[in-house]
Amino acid sequence: MTYPDKPIVLMGFMGSGKSTLGKALARKFKLRFTDLDRYIERETGWPVQKIFSDQGEGAFRELEKKCLAVLLEERRGVIAIGGGAPCNEENIRMIKEKSLSVYVKITLGELVRRLSVSPVPRPLLPGTDQDGLEPFIASLLKTREKYYSQADIILESDCLTAEALERAILPSF
Ligand code: S3P
Repeated sequence: MTYPDKPIVLMGFMGSGKSTLGKALARKFKLRFTDLDRYIERETGWPVQKIFSDQGEGAFRELEKKCLAVLLEERRGVIAIGGGAPCNEENIRMIKEKSLSVYVKITLGELVRRLSVSPVPRPLLPGTDQDGLEPFIASLLKTREKYYSQADIILESDCLTAEALERAILPSF
């Protein structure tokens, strides 16, 4: 099989399953998988939530931009990026230029359900109470949708499988 000579980037809101899907896809294609947040943690030696609490969101976004630029130079691989990573003009431009990008699009109700029970610490979320989460997610999603929707492939499903993701991507190979 011939692969595109650029990485496959999975983007979407927190809780959309990018890392789980990305790992499964990478396994199928025998490609390297990288999670941008884990890469940032390895490079800095700090957990993402500590970067947010000690240095603030602005410092995290700078690190995120630098690490994203490095990973996008990888020729073949699957990269799952944090929900906020594609949400500025510079980052989305880099992603569009250097990768085959996929937006994993999940409904608001499913995002609320998943994030209310997720054990993963997410510094941006206002707790796990569903009534508080819904307006927060709805409003942030609205501002982010214009970036996510610039992906090469948009997959809309609350139960997306690695097989469906593979089928959607194959025509681009
Ligand atoms: C963020 C999403 C997180 C992580 C950070 C900020 C965001 O990644 O990068 O907490 O701004 O949406 P996940 O999308 O993997 O949860």
